[in-house]
Amino acid sequence: MQTALCKTLGLDYPIIQAGIGGAAGPELAAAVSNAGALGTLTLTGDGREGSRRRIAALRDLTDRRFATNVILAYDVEAELDAMAEAKPPLVSLFWGDPAPHVERFHAIGSKVMLTVGSVEEAKRAADAGVDMVVAQGWEAGGHVRGRVASLALVPAVVDAVAPLPVIAAGGISDGRGLAAVLALGAQAALVGTRFLASREANTHRAYRAKVLAATAADTVYSKLFDGGWPGAPGRVVRTDLVAAWEAAGQPEPGRRQGEGQVIARDDDGSPIERYQAVTARREIEGDIESLPLWAGQGVGLVKREQGAAEIIEEMVGEARAAMARGAELTGS
Ligand SMILES: Cc1cc2nc3c(=O)[nH]c(=O)nc-3n(C[C@H](O)[C@H](O)[C@H](O)COP(=O)(O)O)c2cc1C
Repeated sequence: MQTALCKTLGLDYPIIQAGIGGAAGPELAAAVSNAGALGTLTLTGDGREGSRRRIAALRDLTDRRFATNVILAYDVEAELDAMAEAKPPLVSLFWGDPAPHVERFHAIGSKVMLTVGSVEEAKRAADAGVDMVVAQGWEAGGHVRGRVASLALVPAVVDAVAPLPVIAAGGISDGRGLAAVLALGAQAALVGTRFLASREANTHRAYRAKVLAATAADTVYSKLFDGGWPGAPGRVVRTDLVAAWEAAGQPEPGRRQGEGQVIARDDDGSPIERYQAVTARREIEGDIESLPLWAGQGVGLVKREQGAAEIIEEMVGEARAAMARGAELTGS
């Protein structure tokens, strides 16, 4: 199952593991890359030394290609410097203008990709010289850039930036979704939520349990978790905290219950307040279910804990079967 983008990136399969905050560490990215897809290491918040260490740890675990990811809405200069030193095959950017970074990474041989949420943003990214764009539909987990669902967004972006390769994201949690986005003209699927319950993801067990239990209708898109990143909407599992906020009429910041309360601690002891935009990693202790349990609508298709390689194998098998069914329908 090789698209032109697979050849460009040296992949066996058109699957890219999304940057999924602290849940995507070296173990997950390496397992995905070793399985023939593309792993992504997220670095936002790791600083220069932390980024260097994590990239080195990834390189110890795989000889294959990988991506490194930062969110441009944060101050990530140190992370970008560490990335420039490490020369990753693919630089994955989100939530900002890629223009100031394209030349720097092209000069060292890295390809550059931006996740976008609209046709307009995709066109601006193409003009800025990125090598590919990710069209992220509104179903996606984590922070959500636009308002249009994948089925409508992906073909619109494909048409708008052709011949630039487009990768589809949002709601793709099995091989039927992969086959669907390839049919829409995408050259790969970027998959986040499906990997949250993978054995290699750095997600807290209480977070995994919620992901495994949730159905497609159990996620909420809102700006509730604004601590550290005000105004950025995201999609999470509807926990008791989220349901209580909805029941209270979705009060604005400043009027929400328990604001400023410390509800958990990171492994270095630093406090995590209610409504803070963090990812519930294994090492966090406290009221995990009140943290933002980021997940997309494809969460309903995540049914058991699996290794990342098994997930990729299963998705590829399902996509092949879906495409064979399509070929049968057309008699080809
Ligand atoms: C837990 C979580 C954390 C995320 N953190 C990031 C991030 O650090 N950088 C980024 O570019 N995207 C981030 N995203 C968005 C993903 O890159 C991707 O667009 C999304 O997961 C795709 O939709 P899906 O979850 O339906 O597969 C995150 C998503 C999740 C679920």
